[in-house]
Amino acid sequence: DMGGHDTYMHKEISEQPDAVDRVLRGRIDDRFNTVHLGGLNLDAREARGIRRVKILGCGTSYHAGLIGAGLIESLARIPADAEPASEFRYRNPVVDPDTLYIAVSQSGETYDVLAAVQELKRKGARVLGVVNVVGSAIAREADGGTYVHAGPEVCVVSTKCFTNTVVAFALLALHLGRIRDLSVAEGKRIIEGLRKLPAQISEILESEADIKKLAEEYADAKSMMFIGRVRGYPVALEASLKLKEISYIHAEAYPASELKHGPLALIEPALPTVAIVPDDELLEKNRAALEEIKARSGRILAVAHREQEKADHTIVVPKNEDELDPILMGIPLQLLAYHTALALGRDIDKPRNLAKSVTVE
Ligand code: F6R
Repeated sequence: DMGGHDTYMHKEISEQPDAVDRVLRGRIDDRFNTVHLGGLNLDAREARGIRRVKILGCGTSYHAGLIGAGLIESLARIPADAEPASEFRYRNPVVDPDTLYIAVSQSGETYDVLAAVQELKRKGARVLGVVNVVGSAIAREADGGTYVHAGPEVCVVSTKCFTNTVVAFALLALHLGRIRDLSVAEGKRIIEGLRKLPAQISEILESEADIKKLAEEYADAKSMMFIGRVRGYPVALEASLKLKEISYIHAEAYPASELKHGPLALIEPALPTVAIVPDDELLEKNRAALEEIKARSGRILAVAHREQEKADHTIVVPKNEDELDPILMGIPLQLLAYHTALALGRDIDKPRNLAKSVTVE
């Protein structure tokens, strides 16, 4: 049942205010400005003993894990990174008892992620799951974890589950942070930011008609560049994947700082750039990248918190706390991919060559 929408993808994008509300519900503790996550199976003493966090997933879940790693580093001050689960599995990684491993999966059935979890467990590691489908193989195999409560995701490409997974990571990072060195005031700041998300997502969804116009304007591109910096880079990766998957337009994502180390050679009017430009400590750096692109006559579509002078078009999104901005900046780019694919007449819910869950190696 598509509930009045033409595609499941559109339905699922539209459901995000409610989905985010669900992942937050019942978990915030205003007395201690922290978060309770029931199924973690990780007590405070164990949480304090974690020396590193390694996040494993595939595709969109890997991208959510990259943002999650950034949240854990900044809020809990634990070194954290994310890696595609299959790469991890095949490089015979050093498995460290003081590392917390986190497996991320919408379906909970992705073979490469499941096999990584099993290999880690066989070697005695502690593995948590950040999973959407309750009772799925990865959820059962993990030592504990949290469900992301996005609800059923039918469209092959992931949208609402991505957003909810990132919010779940923000909750986990806040929980770990408040056990370690994050202050009460900082905890409160993040909680207030989290509570603003559903209304801010609704506000972004209201600008769909404008985003549709932009999508129609850029749909003739043969290829597109996506750039972002630090928190913005995984947003660029995910937006580029979404565009590729459903529109079949070639797209690349680069950290903005890497442009001058090679990809700048590609910039010309026929290769538009989508730039993630949050109002944070990196704003001036990001503006300098826009200037470099403009100097080569590149077209620029910015996603920002205010109009960007160097950009040809800006999608303005509401500002949240710096750490939570990536959650909001991804939403208009889901709509951009959607309307680009629609303008090109693609089969959005069933893109060619792809399956909803990849249960083979
Ligand atoms: C992208 C997409 C895929 C999945 C990937 C992992 O839109 O849907 O990249 O994210 O196959 O799937 P899960 O999260 O079920 O492990």
